[in-house]
Amino acid sequence: MTNLKQYTVIASGKMRDVAFEKLDAAVNLLGWQKGGRVPAEQFDEWLAKADALFSTGNIKINEELLAKAPNLKVIAQASVGYDNIDIAACNARNIPVGNTPGVLVDAVADLAYALILDSARKIVLAYDHVKSGKWGENKPFGLATDLAHKTLGVVGMGDIGSAIAERAKASKMKIVYHNRNRRADDEALGATYVTFDELLAQADFIVIAVTLNPTTKGMFNKEAFAKMKDGARIVNISRGAVIDTEAMYEALLSGKLAHAAMDVTDPEPLPGDHKLLSLPNVTVTPHMASATTETRDAMALLTVDNILAGLEGKPMPAQVKAK
Ligand code: DGY
Repeated sequence: MTNLKQYTVIASGKMRDVAFEKLDAAVNLLGWQKGGRVPAEQFDEWLAKADALFSTGNIKINEELLAKAPNLKVIAQASVGYDNIDIAACNARNIPVGNTPGVLVDAVADLAYALILDSARKIVLAYDHVKSGKWGENKPFGLATDLAHKTLGVVGMGDIGSAIAERAKASKMKIVYHNRNRRADDEALGATYVTFDELLAQADFIVIAVTLNPTTKGMFNKEAFAKMKDGARIVNISRGAVIDTEAMYEALLSGKLAHAAMDVTDPEPLPGDHKLLSLPNVTVTPHMASATTETRDAMALLTVDNILAGLEGKPMPAQVKAK
């Protein structure tokens, strides 16, 4: 059995305590439990001696970083998305990259469903109304809309997309979806495959659950918004850059879009004075879809398992496919 204590593993930010303890017992760990990011100078010093990197997702992993880490053998990131990592550059150096699919599906789907419900029922607006002491007065935001018998268009029917569809079916929504490939089990899922344009034309609510890549970047642009139903609503839990923010702002302003709810934005973080936040028909949460205690612990532990497997030269439990 490999003596893993010979390996230095570094973290780019604070990790969950359960993961810190497990990793610290197994390897020579240079961890950062103070919160926030490791200061740049300190991180560069660590990179110079790192055998493995536990990425908390808050850094760009590119040629520049890899050049600072001549011994790096393994990278594992505590997230399912890895658009901050240059996978081809890692492949070129034979560095396997791990991520955390599966364990966050329900948490992310729950937040997406919550945003769909908020988009329909104006929960945040209503709460603001109550807080401002105006309960007895006319609500300035009008009536809500039903989910029952409305069409939900799921863009990206992977594990998370289908978990969102499951939840939406509990509200009696009809489900259409668009994917690169049609799913063989879509009848069992109760979802109908449509082209992207058909989805835009049919959906009352659109939920975006695709990964960010060169094909999906900016796929919700001016043209896409123009093809949507008047008064459609959009929910984004994937990555902010899938939507052209300016085009969405215009669509919200004109009423083409009745509402947008998003856990991810472009730019991210969204500045408090961003013009999107001046609109009444927008709900934004701060990229927190996977942020439950149970899910973040599971993501961190899977990241540790990915690192340990990688250092032992074994396939990771969740390894990103080489490009
Ligand atoms: C992920 O895992 O990619 C999520 O966006 C984190 O919340």
